[in-house]
Amino acid sequence: MPQRPHPVGTGTDADWWRQAVVYQVYPRSFADADGDGIGDIRGVTSRLPYLAELGVDAVWLSPFYPSELADGGYDVADYRDVDPRLGTLDDFHAMVTEADRLGLKIVVDIVPNHSSHQHVWFQEALAAGPGSAARERYVFREGRGEQGELPPTDWPSSFGGPAWTRVPDGQWYLHLYAPEQPDFNWDNPEVREDFHTTLRFWSDRGVAGFRVDVAHGLAKDLAEPLRDLGEAQSYQPDELPDDGSHPLWDRDAVHDIYRGWRRVFDEYEPPRFAVAEAWVRSSRRAPYASADELGQAFNFDFLNTPLEAGAMRDTIDSALAHARDAGATSTWVLSNHDVVRHPSRYALPTGATKSDVEAWLMTDGQEPSPDGELGLRKARAATLLMLALPGSAYVYQGEELGLPEVADLRTEDLQDPIWVRSGGRVKGRDGCRVPLPWTREGASHGFGSGGSWLPQPAGWGSYAADIQAGDKDSVLELYREALHLRRDLVTDETLEWADTTPGVAERGLVHFTRSGGWHVLSNLSDESVPLPQGTVLLASNPLPEGELPAWTTVWMRNQA
Ligand code: NOJ
Repeated sequence: MPQRPHPVGTGTDADWWRQAVVYQVYPRSFADADGDGIGDIRGVTSRLPYLAELGVDAVWLSPFYPSELADGGYDVADYRDVDPRLGTLDDFHAMVTEADRLGLKIVVDIVPNHSSHQHVWFQEALAAGPGSAARERYVFREGRGEQGELPPTDWPSSFGGPAWTRVPDGQWYLHLYAPEQPDFNWDNPEVREDFHTTLRFWSDRGVAGFRVDVAHGLAKDLAEPLRDLGEAQSYQPDELPDDGSHPLWDRDAVHDIYRGWRRVFDEYEPPRFAVAEAWVRSSRRAPYASADELGQAFNFDFLNTPLEAGAMRDTIDSALAHARDAGATSTWVLSNHDVVRHPSRYALPTGATKSDVEAWLMTDGQEPSPDGELGLRKARAATLLMLALPGSAYVYQGEELGLPEVADLRTEDLQDPIWVRSGGRVKGRDGCRVPLPWTREGASHGFGSGGSWLPQPAGWGSYAADIQAGDKDSVLELYREALHLRRDLVTDETLEWADTTPGVAERGLVHFTRSGGWHVLSNLSDESVPLPQGTVLLASNPLPEGELPAWTTVWMRNQA
């Protein structure tokens, strides 16, 4: 296969992603150039100089495709276009060109598990009726019960409620997410071929890679009779079987699909990159990340690891080992568009679980009363720890401003389908998707001139980028300094634990060295400890003479 010409935007380095800092843009909430209250592609382009100055290597855009936004754009009606509210393909080209000028790469989100119900294929399937080829692109089945009035299986939707919806002719279709997101049938070669076309479409337009949504869900066991889950209703990674035997998730057959994708990526020079969003047991992550498949897989372990030295060390060790098994580098994530922002998670009592955090949101962020100042201090320490690790760091928009979760959005403003699908029991993810504050003053704090699709809370302006820029104590300057230093400091993929003395973790310390003569010490405890001798490169908070205070990370040159 001849290699395709390399368009603007992708550079020449095939390994650029291994130690990259990738900044996630949630386009609707980033910057709104046309003043309709929804962020857009031209808004992203206008802020690329800010991202270049921040020091990131690549920008990953969550979906910007035509969509009725039933799930924030993860319900795609057309995989090869831009939503008219967000711009045009020409705007996309201008964005890639500007990114290239600034030395930034563009990564796009690809959503292969399901489309929008507005996708032309799904509309054809509805019109064509049972038994048609059009229905074979999705998963349609007869129901159970005398009149077929019961769903074909007991599978739940990840957003709550059943995973099946009945259509007027009596058949049911599968949707592991919202009813507006019908699942594709990946046993159908036409579906496989069409996604190859989409991968080439964006690769030809200068994207350097893809973030693969729900990467572990495509290869379902659709052999008749479909298997009920019975008691095993949970889709949590640690509750999935470890042998690929679940009828829906993480089945071995999914890897064949990605080997096909790899062949498409390798048509390009440099080959296109991909990172899997695969909520699987960490021991089953490696194949997704292997060089003959997607190349990298998200490690979400920090989202559930308490900020305690022993737990953090174990998580780091295991993530590095799994990435090594795959021949990939690890990824690190403290926040993204699906979780409560980490300064707010860390403001809750240590060890708060995912359901504790959800319960806290249901009290509008009141109970238990969060310690916002401590949460931010811990977040700064965790950030410097993360940015010193080998592998790629994924930074979610606004975390460089220290944004907290907006926990008190009014229920009438909530847009996440989780809120409705859970029957009002789970508030959902809107609180981390509130449009960014760029300026302290002005309409929607510089987000755009036409308001913002989710209301910005009182006090949002105090986090604005314009007042943080140049303030050496701000979160923004901490990120900028760390990312610039990291460019020179992170030269290879090794890490050695510096202090293996028994009891070091109990004292709350995480300490490791990196090649190139520097080391990193995190004090994840309430007590200050003596600061080792040596030159301080960067600290997450001011250091009193000779001390490493509580909840502080420091990067230091080794003593000569
Ligand atoms: C994972 C995405 O990150 C999330 O936002 C979305 O709701 C689901 N996949 C379904 O596409």
